[in-house]
Amino acid sequence: MPQFAPLKNDTFLRALLRQPTEYTPVWLMRQAGRYLPEYRATRAIGGSFMGLATNPDLATEVTLQPIDRYPLDAAILFSDILTVPDAMGLGLRFVEGEGPKFDRPLRTEEDVLALRAPEPGSLDYVFKAVTQIRTELNGRVPLIGFSGSPWTLACYMVEGEGSREFHTIKKMLYSRPDLMHRLLSINAQSVADYLNAQIDAGAQAVMVFDSWGGALADGAFQEFSLQYMRQVVSLLKREKDGVKIPAIVFTKGGGHWAEEIAATGADAIGLDWTANLGKIRALVGDKVALQGNLDPAILFAEPDQIRAEVVKVLNAYGRHDTGHVFNLGHGISQFTPPESVAAMVDAVHSHSRTLRNT
Ligand code: CP3
Repeated sequence: MPQFAPLKNDTFLRALLRQPTEYTPVWLMRQAGRYLPEYRATRAIGGSFMGLATNPDLATEVTLQPIDRYPLDAAILFSDILTVPDAMGLGLRFVEGEGPKFDRPLRTEEDVLALRAPEPGSLDYVFKAVTQIRTELNGRVPLIGFSGSPWTLACYMVEGEGSREFHTIKKMLYSRPDLMHRLLSINAQSVADYLNAQIDAGAQAVMVFDSWGGALADGAFQEFSLQYMRQVVSLLKREKDGVKIPAIVFTKGGGHWAEEIAATGADAIGLDWTANLGKIRALVGDKVALQGNLDPAILFAEPDQIRAEVVKVLNAYGRHDTGHVFNLGHGISQFTPPESVAAMVDAVHSHSRTLRNT
């Protein structure tokens, strides 16, 4: 096991653990990606998204690009949530302009009964990338590992691609809840193993992306998404070599379930821009840190407007010494002007410092 350099900036980890920080740490979901010209240049060499993700040298290079360009407080592994179902044999393809597709989606009882956890070794390229990124970060900022939630992975596994309505998986959920639960149990164990292997490889915090939990009805969310995230969190290694490994759970569209999500045992919950951070904090107290929640569309406005909206989010959170990790409410758009991110990061750091002196 390699010895990693000591961490120079642990602001992000301290905020997640509700310990005091001098300013509010910030990172962006999808911070390495097509809005950066340097990413597009590396992607041209790698050939495709999976070409980058499966090559640890290239995955390391693109993970570090936003860290070199902006004073961000965390790096996130360059990969995708769909690597896990791909390793289960579903055949992942990224179709240019259309997004991800699976060659062998799970549609029948036989498909679900034949599903197995990923073969050992099939995700080693991810763990190699984690170790290489952590080494090359050289302690600048912590590295976040991640996975999709059992439910969100199931959405792609059953639909076979992205969806607006989720008719195929909801039909399975309501007509064959037994099959749905079988699939989700396999996913939960696979996700926990995958995150624990990232922690062993060097990830210093982990995040579960429940991008489609918000598509579920109240009641169905608790039964088919939340229950399995609770299981994942309970199986995670929360400490490595005496250092805590915080876990973040992000259900997009899940603000109205914040208290229940906070009770999963995670250290922090992610929120999209429809939530009010102050109201959520009043409900959950200091039990968890909050991550979010600027509308990514604000990055299409002018720098002064971006600053004003950043101030609103910081002020909405209300408490100024800890427990808030600034982020967007969802991934950054590929059409975002890179200068907008510079204005946003600067506004978070500078305004949050002034709040601590008041
Ligand atoms: O945040 C980061 O910088 C880390 C990298 C990361 C990617 N995907 C890279 C990526 C993370 C954390 C993800 C998570 C992910 N992937 C989610 C959950 C978060 C969310 O956005 O809700 C989901 C639903 C996916 C599935 C996925 N991957 C879709 C729908 C797409 C196509 C949409 C698009 O933007 O093209 C991807 C591809 C993908 N994953 C890209 C990147 C940078 C685009 C890659 C490219 O074409 O070069």
